[in-house]
Amino acid sequence: MHPIYVTRQLPQPGLDILQAEAGGFAINADDHPLTKAELKSAVKGRTAIVCLLTDAIDAEVLDAAGPQLKIVANVAVGYNNIDVKAATERKVLVTNTPGVLTETTADLAWALLLASARRLGESERVLRAGKWPGWGILQFLGQDIYGKTIGIVGGGRIGHAVARRALGFSMKVLYTSRSPKEDMNALGARHVDLETCLRESDFISLHVPLTAETKHLIGRKEFEQMKPTAHLINTARGPVIDEAALVEALKSKRIAGAALDVYEEEPKVHAGLFECENAVLAPHIGSATTETRGRMATMAAQNVVAVLKGQKPLNAVN
Ligand code: NAP
Ligand code: GLV
Repeated sequence: MHPIYVTRQLPQPGLDILQAEAGGFAINADDHPLTKAELKSAVKGRTAIVCLLTDAIDAEVLDAAGPQLKIVANVAVGYNNIDVKAATERKVLVTNTPGVLTETTADLAWALLLASARRLGESERVLRAGKWPGWGILQFLGQDIYGKTIGIVGGGRIGHAVARRALGFSMKVLYTSRSPKEDMNALGARHVDLETCLRESDFISLHVPLTAETKHLIGRKEFEQMKPTAHLINTARGPVIDEAALVEALKSKRIAGAALDVYEEEPKVHAGLFECENAVLAPHIGSATTETRGRMATMAAQNVVAVLKGQKPLNAVN
């Protein structure tokens, strides 16, 4: 039996490293998301699991793998799909892929921000449906971005990359996180509390990890604090927003628009969102470029190789 199990297809650079430096691997080659039962059976007896954010690695799965398991290497920077406490209790290392996807995800956040502000999704749907009557001076009026205020919730790597891009639009940048960040302050961004960030921003972009503290960080109360002209962008994790409250806020025009890459119960999307013309909806593609997905797979494979060689992995989270 191969000591390494890869739960779904991976970009080739990662597989090449596992082949060349770890003697091969077993893989769920048809790429279907494994059920809990399939996952438990597939990981039995393995020393390393390379998994994706669609795999829930909990105590049950860790126990199914067995006491020889040394590492769970997530091919994602977010690791809310893994029970890190349970892994630590079982002396299993958990690694993620920080940094290599920062710029790519910030690009997507900006693509969503621009699309929401300028009603791209809505206007394209009209055009594709053959319903565009021709140019009109009052058609699809959106909002300017240049010179406005952006509020970044979570001033870490991706939040910083989003803020850097905002300077090119001459925007005022506010950010909120539990502690102030020197690199954000160096950009001229102002550290504020969440309420100030929501009240003063024209565009709000979420970049916090999903934790017990950030689940439903944005709900009914927070929508009440936003400007009616505000646009909310989420490339973090779906459950950071109370999706039902978001649908209400969009339908009642409590806020002007939202652009989402992530959802509370992926791949399910709240049915109400499909009814909102003022929602731009992307299918969790924040890091989806060929280069970045290759770098993520490479980093995860390198973490596995290091641990199997008895070395410290580069990106341990426990
Ligand atoms: P990061 O560098 O760790 O930044 C996270 C930031 O959130 C930190 O500044 C942290 O600062 C702040 N934070 C944590 N808990 C908070 C709280 N309770 N309230 C306010 N701020 C809080 O992570 P990153 O690399 O930027 O990635 C951020 C997240 O983006 C990932 O965890 C992942 O879920 C998501 N992501 C999504 C995609 C996609 O495809 N859509 C791609 C990449 C990443 P403090 O500790 O000081 O609070
Ligand atoms: C993607 O969502 C990631 O966390 O890498």
